[in-house]
Amino acid sequence: MSVRPLIAGNWKMNGLAGESAGQIKALISKANEVASLGCDILICPPATLVGQLAEQAKGTSVAIGGQDCHAHEKGAHTGDISAAMLKDAGASYCLAGHSERRTDHGESNADVKAKAEAAIGAELIAIVCVGETLEQRESGKTLEVVSDQVKNSLPDGATATNTVIAYEPVWAIGTGKTPTTEDVAEVHAHMRKELSTLMSDAGSVRLLYGGSVKGSNAAELMAVEHVNGALVGGASLKAEDFWPIVETGL
Ligand code: PGA
Repeated sequence: MSVRPLIAGNWKMNGLAGESAGQIKALISKANEVASLGCDILICPPATLVGQLAEQAKGTSVAIGGQDCHAHEKGAHTGDISAAMLKDAGASYCLAGHSERRTDHGESNADVKAKAEAAIGAELIAIVCVGETLEQRESGKTLEVVSDQVKNSLPDGATATNTVIAYEPVWAIGTGKTPTTEDVAEVHAHMRKELSTLMSDAGSVRLLYGGSVKGSNAAELMAVEHVNGALVGGASLKAEDFWPIVETGL
């Protein structure tokens, strides 16, 4: 089955208004040069820039998303942002359970599931992130850990339209290390199988790979069976680095 790829950039805690506007402008102009895009393009900037960049990208083929949302719609949660607020600011996607959130903020699978459900409830597409640590990989627990995260972080009501899964081995994020294509193939096939027990349209769910994706390795990672796109950190900050990755999805 052919699944339209998604090439997503996660800017993490990087980006100020001026330089970011320039990067989005450059990305939009690259995308405009392509007559018919064969993939979806997404940038998840810090929350402070979602409104501005969504306005700038309105009507173009570049979508804007949040990096996190609160599980509740509103209320006494100082410093938090709801999915409805991201939607209101022009976002169309939201990450849930990035490993930096799971680690830095102690987010459990139940938290991630609740956030992904909030995202879907606000009509955002949830990108649920999963992935093993180095210790878990070295002790042979990768598939078990990924299964557990997929099963327990998947939002109720998940469909191939409202949910994307990103496999990001924790040890590959920001390290320049990537798993072999065989290892990625094994995990992605496993996730597809796991999802087929949980969803009726599992075959169409976009499964992204993330962790040290760059222009020089994107094509081989994207060619792996059941890899339907990429979640890119460092190499998404500059349009000139991100575009060659987008091209592998075209
Ligand atoms: P990286 O980050 O591409 O810088 O490794 C990926 C991510 O954390 O989403």
